[in-house]
Amino acid sequence: MSGEVTVSGAKNAAVAIIPAALISDGVCVIDNIPEIEDVKVLAETLRSLGAKVDLSVPGQITIDPTEVKSICPSEKLTRKMRASYYLMGALLARFGSAKVPPPGGCYIGKRPIDQHLKGFMALGADVKNTNVVEINAPALHGAEVYLDVVSVGATINIMLAAVKAEGTTTIFNCAKEPHVVEVANFLNNMGAKIKGAGTDIIKIRGVKQLHSCSYTLIPDQIETGTWMVIAAATKSDITIKNCIPTHMESLSAKLEEAGYRIDEGEDTLRIIPKEERPRAVKVKTMVYPGFPTDLQQPFSALLCCAQGTSTITETIFEQRYRHLDELRKMGATTDFNDRVAVIEGVEKLYGTDVEALDLRGGAALIVAGLMAEGTTTITGVQYIDRGYEKIVEKLQSLGADIERVKM
Ligand code: UD1
Repeated sequence: MSGEVTVSGAKNAAVAIIPAALISDGVCVIDNIPEIEDVKVLAETLRSLGAKVDLSVPGQITIDPTEVKSICPSEKLTRKMRASYYLMGALLARFGSAKVPPPGGCYIGKRPIDQHLKGFMALGADVKNTNVVEINAPALHGAEVYLDVVSVGATINIMLAAVKAEGTTTIFNCAKEPHVVEVANFLNNMGAKIKGAGTDIIKIRGVKQLHSCSYTLIPDQIETGTWMVIAAATKSDITIKNCIPTHMESLSAKLEEAGYRIDEGEDTLRIIPKEERPRAVKVKTMVYPGFPTDLQQPFSALLCCAQGTSTITETIFEQRYRHLDELRKMGATTDFNDRVAVIEGVEKLYGTDVEALDLRGGAALIVAGLMAEGTTTITGVQYIDRGYEKIVEKLQSLGADIERVKM
């Protein structure tokens, strides 16, 4: 493959910013919104609560939340994605109460939401967590919240809930991922007073109201990384456009360790193609700026053909190894040793029928299918569609032999 590919807007920022728009007193117009299933489901969820949501302009979403009356999204919609938990923080900030069924999303581990709820309670809310999470707060007040684990979801959700609380909220041990910073920027654009996003401590001074705004989303860190891995795995000369290279440093460092050279522009990246197989490396997933758990899966497909033995230590989601069973069907040699995946590099993978069991595991199978000899058929593509915009079309434009078929 060769050519240029443009990265779409950040999924994990979009799925937080769309619920965040519920807190506004006016219309929010957000550009560079990725055209992915999770965005469509969230748009539908906001509509079901009474918001006017327009997705007719490609890459843009317009949200008018002024008519929202309901605080109870349907379980059918919330079960479709993880990020529906942001409705808790957003509705709590807007109405002082929320009744949200538990979130869904990829099965990659236990994924509790105790830290989110602990944050809401610290702000003065009463929380009942049965089959629906019921949150009520006659008045929210600023508080100090110390997160026991570094959680992207809890950091953002508490930020949402605190934005209009009386006084100052301080969240300690925050997640520092680019999308945390992006949500804070979006809220500040609407008049919030948030400082410190991107560091361990975030301070939120409550304001009376948030106003309408226009905002443009950053490019997706994980899509960028997926293209970097695809380029390396297929020895393709691909220029990845509209990306933020500084968000990619942990992956770039691992690719360099594996023997690749990377050409970094202001908003472009290019992995210099090389004929030899990559060197085996050790990967340990960590919170940002460490190696992202979301890229562990696509990267593991590349390691299947490395020279030597690689290891992957997944420290964030204990079940995020299920794609390795599928890669084994394609000829990969993988094993487990006390929660560490061991990958013995082989010369080649072979195409066969495999199943995507989660979003990034699906991306790993695409990487593997592109590397493999013969034809790979991937089912379960609904997971991939949740997070990658026009992945088939983008690959086709680079020269890949890939098509979406109805079975
Ligand atoms: C988000 C991302 C997901 C990414 C993950 C880690 C979205 C919609 N999803 O998921 O793509 O893989 O961050 O970067 O943005 N935890 C608790 N209690 C809590 C919350 C989390 O124990 O209340 C634990 C989790 O089980 C996990 C760790 O904390 O082990 C990190 O999870 P978290 O950052 O919250 O991930 P998600 O928000 O689910």
